[in-house]
Amino acid sequence: MAEVGFSKVLYRKEGGVAWITLNNSAKYNALELDLRRELKAALMDAAGDSAVRAVVIRGAGGNFSAGADIKAFLQWDPAETVRVANEVGTSMVLSSIIRNMQKPVIAVVEGYCLGGGFELAQACDLIVASEDAVFGQPEINLGIIPGGGGTQRLTRLVGEKKAKELIFTGDRVSASTLAALGLVNVVVPKERLEEALKTLLDKILSKPPLAVAAAKEAVNLALETGLSAGLRAELMLFASLFASEDQKEGARAFLEKRKPVWKGR
Ligand code: COA
Repeated sequence: MAEVGFSKVLYRKEGGVAWITLNNSAKYNALELDLRRELKAALMDAAGDSAVRAVVIRGAGGNFSAGADIKAFLQWDPAETVRVANEVGTSMVLSSIIRNMQKPVIAVVEGYCLGGGFELAQACDLIVASEDAVFGQPEINLGIIPGGGGTQRLTRLVGEKKAKELIFTGDRVSASTLAALGLVNVVVPKERLEEALKTLLDKILSKPPLAVAAAKEAVNLALETGLSAGLRAELMLFASLFASEDQKEGARAFLEKRKPVWKGR
């Protein structure tokens, strides 16, 4: 982390949670190169810190993010586009850190969540949104398509027809529309956003960490493998948990009619 200034991203670790805030509010937290680099470093730090049990990504100033830095688009050619994607793109780099870390990553969305901002939220494990949140893939209006995973991840999340509609039209959709499609987990009035996030975090933090990690890995695999390979992988992950102290504690606590005390091993 040392070489990264952390000005476009605010990063702190507290209460077992890594709190990441996109901090470029004058530009609706547009994902400029510096911000992406800091976000990548923060995510990698959170991924590698065993004291961090969950990660929260949100935006400063009442918006999540208005997406990729359109100003930089004026300069990009195909080679630069690929270079940036390989260094700090959402499609393969940021999303893979998020997917591979053994802890849940929650996007907390208010205000605009457009383009690359929406793709970043899609890459997270869970989305908690306020009623004022506005989502969309407006890239078509700029003469391009989503390049941060939107065509692939959104299609898997909401199905071909809805993904095509959103990507062809660039239309904006509400949090409640996406909740009905299963893409947003929780929608609450703005003033109840913190409370809803805390409720979700408290629940996750009260669970055995190894089982949460195994659950994340197993569900991730459902989108990446065929059913037979996925079921085999699930069995391996399921069986591996029987080597943990927490598994024995969970069964014992149930039978003794008491609350389990998790050790994370
Ligand atoms: N990249 C770079 N700059 C952005 C940006 C982006 N994605 N989104 C907003 N900004 C900048 C604007 O250029 C403007 O900068 P300026 O103050 O130097 O003129 C500033 O943020 C405020 O934006 P503005 O458009 O004036 O605010 P608004 O309230 O009228 O509209 C949005 C807000 C988010 C609806 C609008 O900015 C927008 O549509 N942004 C682009 C969304 C998009 O297409 N994302 C996909 C990118 S691939």
